[in-house]
Amino acid sequence: MSATPTQANRIEVMHGVNLDQLGRRDPAHYGSLTLAELERRIADDAATLDLRTRFFSSNHEGEFVEHLHGLDGLADGIVLNPGAWTHYAWAIRDALELTGLPAMEVHLSDVDAREQWRRVSVIRDVCIGHVSGRGADGYRDALVRLREELTP
Ligand code: DQA
Repeated sequence: MSATPTQANRIEVMHGVNLDQLGRRDPAHYGSLTLAELERRIADDAATLDLRTRFFSSNHEGEFVEHLHGLDGLADGIVLNPGAWTHYAWAIRDALELTGLPAMEVHLSDVDAREQWRRVSVIRDVCIGHVSGRGADGYRDALVRLREELTP
């Protein structure tokens, strides 16, 4: 009897600092969805791609790092928007690298067209790609990229 092949389709979607405040932040940059609404949309998009999502959000860098540490065996890929941590949090970069998982960096706003400091990403070199300035659609783009990556 052959074992049922396990499909790599578990995506951890992680939001960092201040993203729990979506809905109150500048809609010109971040749209008007709350984080709960955004997560529902991501889950629906993921389902159409046969991906399963789990969600995590924190305003505490150490918690975010520890959540990454705990992903071993629980996720096949990561979509992350670390918020402002993207621009300076080397500890998150190192923890992300440690997961060994394919990760996509997503930003709702067009970080490259805003202040100079937002153009720096310390996580980019440990991600397989990044999307910014596409609002909620950017998460779908990231899921499509991960779907490709995880399809044998
Ligand atoms: C953000 C961009 C960051 O520069 C900012 O600090 C955020 C959100 C985005 O989704 O556009 O909090 O990651």
